[in-house]
Amino acid sequence: MAQTLSESQKSHQQLRVVIVGHVDHGKSTLIGRLLYDTDSLPEGKYEELQAICKRRGTAALEWSFVLDAFQAERDQSITIDTTQIWFSTDSRDYVIIDAPGHREFLKNMISGAAAADAAILVVDAMEGVREQTKRHAYMLHLLGMRQIGVVINKMDMAGYDPEVFADVSHQVDKYLKSIGLNAAYIVPISARHGDMIATRTEKMDWYTGKTLTGVLDAFEMTAPPISKSLRFPVQDVYRFNDEERIIVGRVETGIVRTGDSVLFSPTNEKATVTAIKIWPDDPAKVEAHAGEVIGLTLSERIFVERGHIGSHEKNPPMLSNVFRASIFWLSAKALKVGNSYKIRYGTLEASVVVQSIDRVIDTDDLAQTEKAAEVGKNAVAEITLRARDPLPLDPYTDNQRLGRMVIYDGYDIAGGGSINMEGYPDQRQSTKPVSENIYKVDHLMSGDARAQNKGHKGGVFWFTGLSGAGKSTLAMAVENALFQKKYHSYVLDGDNVRHGLNADLGFSPEDRAENIRRVGEVSALMADAGLVVITAFISPYRADRDRARLAAPEKFHEIYVSADLSTCETRDPKGLYKKARAGDIKEFTGIDSPYEAPENPDMVVDTQSNSIQDCVSQVLRYIEEQILLPEEAESSILGQEKALAG
Ligand code: ADX
Repeated sequence: MAQTLSESQKSHQQLRVVIVGHVDHGKSTLIGRLLYDTDSLPEGKYEELQAICKRRGTAALEWSFVLDAFQAERDQSITIDTTQIWFSTDSRDYVIIDAPGHREFLKNMISGAAAADAAILVVDAMEGVREQTKRHAYMLHLLGMRQIGVVINKMDMAGYDPEVFADVSHQVDKYLKSIGLNAAYIVPISARHGDMIATRTEKMDWYTGKTLTGVLDAFEMTAPPISKSLRFPVQDVYRFNDEERIIVGRVETGIVRTGDSVLFSPTNEKATVTAIKIWPDDPAKVEAHAGEVIGLTLSERIFVERGHIGSHEKNPPMLSNVFRASIFWLSAKALKVGNSYKIRYGTLEASVVVQSIDRVIDTDDLAQTEKAAEVGKNAVAEITLRARDPLPLDPYTDNQRLGRMVIYDGYDIAGGGSINMEGYPDQRQSTKPVSENIYKVDHLMSGDARAQNKGHKGGVFWFTGLSGAGKSTLAMAVENALFQKKYHSYVLDGDNVRHGLNADLGFSPEDRAENIRRVGEVSALMADAGLVVITAFISPYRADRDRARLAAPEKFHEIYVSADLSTCETRDPKGLYKKARAGDIKEFTGIDSPYEAPENPDMVVDTQSNSIQDCVSQVLRYIEEQILLPEEAESSILGQEKALAG
């Protein structure tokens, strides 16, 4: 009897199934009947069902009441917020993950409780594909479900007509294919009468495929998450006295062992596991697998708190303060660009702001709207979110448990979806050098002395903007003008540096980040040497530019060379936009790779509405103001103008 499976059996051999479909298409009846036909109803449940039906005055048995009986039990339990219903066939055990209402069901689907191995989509033979059929199917697609079976229910009402079956099957198949899903099996059933659930029926002798249980038995178990990289989201930190601290959490994926070095994110700090604690205490416990709730003690008192994620040093989660998500929106209040929400995955909660709504998809006709201003109730969308500080992130395709999140508006679940890092680099970078035994030495003259010697201060003037915005043209013209005026200046240009120092880098998000990191460091050194450095790099990510600023904190100026995409595309000086549109260049900024415009640049030069000469003068003027020595600033024309203006 499936309901009395031992705990270990439950967690090790069962296939997790989620049953979805439009309301009234027979999901509950199917579950009730499935339990009965596989002889999986717990003791006394059948009698209970008969009694309920008698009491409610229904002549035939209402199989959906079985669920009501489970529901009553569920209401008494305070710990489970989703119903888990066990059943077994001759070949294996199953658990159906269910939730009472539509909303709860959606929440259940996204919150991670339903890491199902397979899904059954129920479609009414008389009604065919309906709105929720599509929405649920789309959700399966978003969640990356691979094993999908379809049952065409209520075949009894359709007179067991093979043509009705063929027609509805075709409709379902067409929709699923259009969203990139594939139904491995489509089975005609009658949940009410138990046709083709666990047993065949002569009424549909024209159907030669598998029964529903046959379909379920044909699905494969997903590999247990122990084979994945370690993820240990911290639930709590228990302190017993000044000495002992136990880091408590559930191993979501992978394996952790005593003696392992565990890296915590986002802090990037590591320590060795000295013991694995369980209750009751077991000193022999030296290894914990995915699914186990454990406590860890560590060799060092590093800062760890709820929401941090432990991993091994190899394959840690990505760290980023910006990421994408494919979401569905449940709230009546639309999601809008600029709004803040709370997100939650694992034990982590963070506040995020919607940076952009990249695409809204109508699940009904699959029409797409690019760059929308809002996402309404029940819509599906691709959005970009930004957090204040870097978050540990696992793309959904790498880690289904931590790669999906719930979005809250206040205390209400407003939506949810899967995390995607496409177009954005891992920002994890150790701020500490990898080498030990290295010591800084001091120069013998000060920065001021160098400036005096050159007759001006050094600085980094960081141009950022789309390809074709005019960064290089402007940089070279400004450099030349500075040179004529006897300033010591030099341009670091993307295309040039990529021929030498950064010849090993391409245009993936990681390579761009490394490009900017190196140039940021080089510029800081050159500015420290007293030079006026002008950089001309797209530098599409805010985080990278912020880091370049940190390399030369006092001397860094962000200059946004602004021209919109269509202007740059019309200019297309190197013919690259054309190639990118034709698909000959991949990951081209503005086309299929993001550009994050500065939020608070020190200066904006608009090359779209101003002549290049005007732009050169504006930048020149700005730079001269910044690099003048203090005493010259007083006496210069610029200084006098400033005094007048001030
Ligand atoms: S960055 O993104 O890493 O800052 P960088 O400024 O060094 O880019 O180089 C950009 C220049 O490389 C562009 O002006 C363009 O000429 C060329 N380029 C070649 N492929 C790409 C691409 N996929 N995306 C953007 N620029 C590209």
